[in-house]
Amino acid sequence: MLVVIKRDYEEVSREGARILAGAIRANPKIVLGLATGSTPLGLYRALIAFHDDGDLDFSGIKSFNLDEYLGLPPSHPQSFHHFMAQNFFSHVNVPRDHIHIPDGTITGDYDEYCARYERSIKAAGGIDLQILGIGRNGHIGFNEPTSSLASRTRLKALSRETIEDNRHFFASTGQMPKCAITMGIGTILESRRVLLLASGRSKAAAVAKAIEGPITSSVSASALQMHPDVTFIIDEEAAYSLTQRDYYRHVLEMTQIFTPERLS
Ligand code: F6R
Repeated sequence: MLVVIKRDYEEVSREGARILAGAIRANPKIVLGLATGSTPLGLYRALIAFHDDGDLDFSGIKSFNLDEYLGLPPSHPQSFHHFMAQNFFSHVNVPRDHIHIPDGTITGDYDEYCARYERSIKAAGGIDLQILGIGRNGHIGFNEPTSSLASRTRLKALSRETIEDNRHFFASTGQMPKCAITMGIGTILESRRVLLLASGRSKAAAVAKAIEGPITSSVSASALQMHPDVTFIIDEEAAYSLTQRDYYRHVLEMTQIFTPERLS
């Protein structure tokens, strides 16, 4: 596990974009796992800027989003379909049929739909690079606390904390979806490489538990300790509660000298 501590949100976004752009250039047919939320917005903006400069071609990539609210059609302004179109896909050249986002409008036979989503990830060759944010409660995707660490894509009831964190996006609390379709923790752990981005003091406790706490279903992100290639890119505020910051800096210096490809 690598922990990269940057000064602020802008630096986190730039570092995430640098690594992601490098991965796309190294493998133009890369399969990406993508996240929504406020955290990756700066990363998407930086990738769009590379693309606008003629520096980054997305025509060969495939993408799979982590999650979608149940009950929201793609046209709903708070749907993750809409978020991705507005903040990323409408600005770059990912072919429409290379984009996969769980369908929030399904009704019934959720298990079969979710199994199909898993099969389409496998058919694409698996996810090469997964981008993650982290919830204040330690969730990744919408894998709320007590999610099985072996879980697969499924229908998931949202926790009170997640509903509280996101209800201001909706006109009234009643309109905030209570469930989502989300990739599972087991699904995420199968991706070949994971980049988790976090910014701000509100994430500090979750980040510390994920990196330094015990592996527990109470903190879904702690499952990443079992993944062989995870990089946390976090700002000073999000790193606030880590006890081993000096060691992480030392590891990073040594990585830059001996295995710089892990940071490219
Ligand atoms: C989004 C997702 C969530 C968010 C998390 C943090 O697709 O899966 O796990 O990454 O809720 O959200 P923000 O970035 O808005 O703080």
